[in-house]
Amino acid sequence: MPWYDWFATWYDHTVERVYAPYRAEVVAALELAGGDHVVDLACGTGPNFEHLVAAVGANGRVIGVDFSAGMLRRAERRAADRGWSHVSTLQQDASTVGQKDLDVACGAPVELAGVLVTLGLSVIPNWEAVVRQMYDRLQPGGRFVVFDIHTQRWVPTTWLVKLTAQADTKRTAWPLLEQLGAQVSWQYLPGSPHLHGGTPYLAVARKPA
Ligand SMILES: C[S@@+](CC[C@H](N)C(=O)[O-])C[C@H]1O[C@@H](n2cnc3c(N)ncnc32)[C@H](O)[C@@H]1O
Repeated sequence: MPWYDWFATWYDHTVERVYAPYRAEVVAALELAGGDHVVDLACGTGPNFEHLVAAVGANGRVIGVDFSAGMLRRAERRAADRGWSHVSTLQQDASTVGQKDLDVACGAPVELAGVLVTLGLSVIPNWEAVVRQMYDRLQPGGRFVVFDIHTQRWVPTTWLVKLTAQADTKRTAWPLLEQLGAQVSWQYLPGSPHLHGGTPYLAVARKPA
């Protein structure tokens, strides 16, 4: 992913300044417990890791998946610098990730209590197939949490986001998660289309037990 490999060099100094304030609330929506296993899909440079690591504790596992080697290298450096040995990474197209890939990345069988995708579903080309596959991997009672931007009316920033992040912000995750049988709640979060290119939203889907 040459674009995101290059974007990686300045992502944390630009995009992340806008989105850092949302991360704690978004991760809290996963309702993780100590020892849980969680996937951070399209994890980028790993800005969610800090909150995920705190939520699952030393006996849990965080698996960051991303297609871009440049983004993932930064995520790995972030984990290594902070001594988070229970963070694993997987450089792979999200649409091809199977249970075995997760187990191998982790070095142990993975039982997913949570899947998190922040600012990823608007970017992954075949996002609907990815949601279906990852929802299948989730344990009963597990949570699938999506944070992204939804554009209801186009403003100049929408074009900027489309160009820089290669994002289609017309997509919404919650109808598909409902279709899959999850108990879904979603809400718009504070934000401005002139800053985000649309409105930030948080969708929380619980797989029936
Ligand atoms: C806007 S960034 C979001 C990064 C991070 N989740 C965050 O919240 O800041 C989108 C990420 O999606 C990744 N991505 C795009 N297509 C992908 C795919 N098919 N499989 C896995 N990752 C993908 C990109 O490499 C990039 O890191």
